Amino acid sequence: MKLLAHILCLSLALALAWAHEHEHASAVLDRCEGLEMDAVAVNDEGTPYFFKGDHLFKGFHGKAELSNESFAELDDHHHLGHVDAAFRMHYEDNPTDHDHMFFFLDHKVFSYYQHKLEEGYPKNISEVFPGIPDHLDAAVECPKPECDEDSVIFFKKDDIYHFNVRTKAVDEKEFKSMPNCTSAFRFMDHYYCFHGHSFSKFDPKTGEVHGKYPKEARDYFMRCSKFSEESDHVERERCSRVHLDAITSDDAGNMYAFRGHHFLRKDEGNDTLTADTIENAFKELHSEVDAVFSYEDHLYMIKDDHVYLYKVGEPHTHLEGYPKPVKEELGIEGPIDAAFVCEDHHIAHIIKGQHIYDVDLKASPRAAGNERQIPLFKKVDAAMCGPGGVKVIVGNHFYHFDSTLVFVGSRALPEQHRVSLELFGCDH
Ligand SMILES: *[C@@H]1O[C@H](CO)[C@@H](O)[C@H](O)[C@H]1NC(C)=O
Ligand SMILES: *[C@@H]1O[C@H](CO)[C@@H](O)[C@H](O)[C@H]1NC(C)=O
Ligand SMILES: *[C@@H]1O[C@H](CO)[C@@H](O)[C@H](O)[C@H]1NC(C)=O
Ligand SMILES: *[C@@H]1O[C@H](CO)[C@@H](O)[C@H](O)[C@H]1NC(C)=O
Repeated sequence: MKLLAHILCLSLALALAWAHEHEHASAVLDRCEGLEMDAVAVNDEGTPYFFKGDHLFKGFHGKAELSNESFAELDDHHHLGHVDAAFRMHYEDNPTDHDHMFFFLDHKVFSYYQHKLEEGYPKNISEVFPGIPDHLDAAVECPKPECDEDSVIFFKKDDIYHFNVRTKAVDEKEFKSMPNCTSAFRFMDHYYCFHGHSFSKFDPKTGEVHGKYPKEARDYFMRCSKFSEESDHVERERCSRVHLDAITSDDAGNMYAFRGHHFLRKDEGNDTLTADTIENAFKELHSEVDAVFSYEDHLYMIKDDHVYLYKVGEPHTHLEGYPKPVKEELGIEGPIDAAFVCEDHHIAHIIKGQHIYDVDLKASPRAAGNERQIPLFKKVDAAMCGPGGVKVIVGNHFYHFDSTLVFVGSRALPEQHRVSLELFGCDH
């Protein structure tokens, strides 16, 4: 009897331990809880991939997926465990490996091109990168002239290796002021070392860290609804690399830029930026708007299939009878990607995928017409129109066009501007 009780007790303990383990496994995969990533690299389209255990986060928000769904063969070597380090080979002069993604697991390296494993891989790290140790912590590509030669920088504890892609020469360096990186990546020509859930921006040649680092990774590289107590909302929203959801300026020239649960506001004639939650200023909308345009002292805010209409003021007031279906209000099916109205006009330009439509706001009922193709972009995140013309925002960049006509007619990309720097004055 005593033995039986003992066995029962033991199985219960095991079951609890199992349950706890599983609870832990799923809980651990919320990146907004503050994860230490195993490896980070951008794919061939520039989307960052964050690896954690056997999971992968694509882009700046969204749920984790199993890494083997995108990179099946990583699984054939299950005993190898998680991805230690990853980078994207990105050197125009090296056509054979250009845009290949390399993954490092223990002593093996995998080379993928367009999500297909290259013939002959995985190989031993020592075969492909002689002089580079196994069990790496991080890796990042470093093309000329950001490094003296086209190189890959490898990190293991506090050892740094510059691997010359052409000659395969290895240069060991000491990055004195830098913490030990658990993952690293190059994004928009900048170099970031992640440690815990913080990161530091560093000079790839010297390892020097300039400015106020480390910073919280969730503030810049993830879209989370809740932030730590210390999080400075204005600083975060100005400098975040996560794409904007929507942007507009009202008739008085005040600008509003929306991202996730927050928005930034810049008042006309005043360079001060303020940040607030959408919940606070546009309660009915709650968060995550798709597109916003301003017209006659009102903000038209579009989320999924509905339009929310606010009269601009302190506070903004939501109009009776709204939200209304986008179809009913604007004569086009939601959801839409971006929308804008240019000064002194009464046409809302609505962007949906690669198409743009005109809606005459004075017409009743309103209808979407004049459908045209946008040749330059597959997907627009946000757009606004002001006295100077149209600003079209795609990812971290915006493009300026003198008019809607020029935007729709353009066949060549104009100069790329940085959203964080040139729109919000974030210099790091
Ligand atoms: C990926 O891994 C999971 C868990 O290890 C497994 O159940 C699944 O069958 C694998 N999928 C593929 C496509 O290999
Ligand atoms: C790869 O490394 C393993 C373990 O160190 C070794 O046994 C094997 O011979 C190596 N293979 C090649 C092709 O060098
Ligand atoms: C970095 O790695 C070295 C070597 O393992 C270790 O001595 C040092 O304490 C580490 N630094 C930090 C900040 O963890
Ligand atoms: C700029 O706007 C902010 C926020 O609305 C306000 O606190 C500040 O006093 C303004 N500064 C000037 C110079 O108008």
